[in-house]
Amino acid sequence: MPPRRILVTGAGGQLGHDLVVGLSGEVPEGGLKGDARTGRLGDRPALDVVAAPRGVLDVTMRADVLAAVSALRPQVVIHAAAFTNVDGCELDPDRAFAVNALGTRHVAEAARRYGAHLVVVSSDYVFDGTATKPYVEWDQTRPMSVYGLSKLATENEAGEGATIVRTSWVCGAHGKNMVKTALALSESHAPMRFVDDQRGRPTFTADLAGAIMVLADSRLSGVFHVTNEGEATWYEFVRAVVTAAGGDPGRVEAISTAELDPPRPATRPAYSVLDNAAMRLSGLPLLPHWQDALERLVRVLGQP
Ligand SMILES: NC(=O)c1ccc[n+]([C@@H]2O[C@H](COP(=O)([O-])OP(=O)(O)OC[C@H]3O[C@@H](n4cnc5c(N)ncnc54)[C@H](OP(=O)(O)O)[C@@H]3O)[C@@H](O)[C@H]2O)c1
Repeated sequence: MPPRRILVTGAGGQLGHDLVVGLSGEVPEGGLKGDARTGRLGDRPALDVVAAPRGVLDVTMRADVLAAVSALRPQVVIHAAAFTNVDGCELDPDRAFAVNALGTRHVAEAARRYGAHLVVVSSDYVFDGTATKPYVEWDQTRPMSVYGLSKLATENEAGEGATIVRTSWVCGAHGKNMVKTALALSESHAPMRFVDDQRGRPTFTADLAGAIMVLADSRLSGVFHVTNEGEATWYEFVRAVVTAAGGDPGRVEAISTAELDPPRPATRPAYSVLDNAAMRLSGLPLLPHWQDALERLVRVLGQP
């Protein structure tokens, strides 16, 4: 039975925002209404959603987290809060682990103590990127960055029975992401140089939110990879963004990671394509191809 009250941490973030909209019975911008693959967004009763952005609930504050969950008594907690700046994590590991590891420990303790099912969100960056075929949920993790290590800690802190959603290359209408960066650059005269040797699966929050809602409804435990279908390098993805916006993809130049100037502090996996194997083998609907989702998002962002 679907939960009645759901608490969403990190509700000010791009995924948190779309989760709150979806759980409130509406379709997030760029989402597909009534589509089984995306959780029948806009086609389900509104739930009692408590949106907790960082200003309302800082997950690093254990007493605050316990008090909030004690007072609200949600049946489900979706933990979308995280320190997501990959290079920022490399430069400030204490903050990375305080938010992504200890913060998750606090949320998990509160959920366990007050009987809520917990859903946490993790990342493709838990893998080292040496694979040559898409990673399944049971592949060996080996993070190459502080961010990746802290997200593996998120998974480990979630505790028995939690749903662990691993996703990748997240973009949505609200917040910073590669689609917005590419659109802004394409409207300027700045060079557009993007790496062609990091391959992953762009994933869109309007679709991801619906799939997370399906997993939360059923309280399915364990790790689930949840991404849009298809794959791309950052270079290929940015070309697709520019094309979808009616621009000239010929402006986008392919470079290697070694050519980035200055080099980025954090190492990224060269290949982090996730196979949504647990969803597929459970008979759950898979998300649409990323190009379909990209076109929907670009249409939304292009509206005045
Ligand atoms: N973005 C990606 O490409 C990507 C890829 C794979 C997995 N993921 C995972 O997907 C989830 C959602 O990511 P997203 O893209 O929606 O990130 P996001 O837009 O950065 O949202 C994360 C939110 O968490 C908040 N936050 C940070 N520290 C907090 C704290 N101490 N207490 C409470 N809230 C805090 C942030 O608030 P402030 O902005 O005020 O700091 C932000 O609103 C995260 O678990 C992330 O690790 C993201």
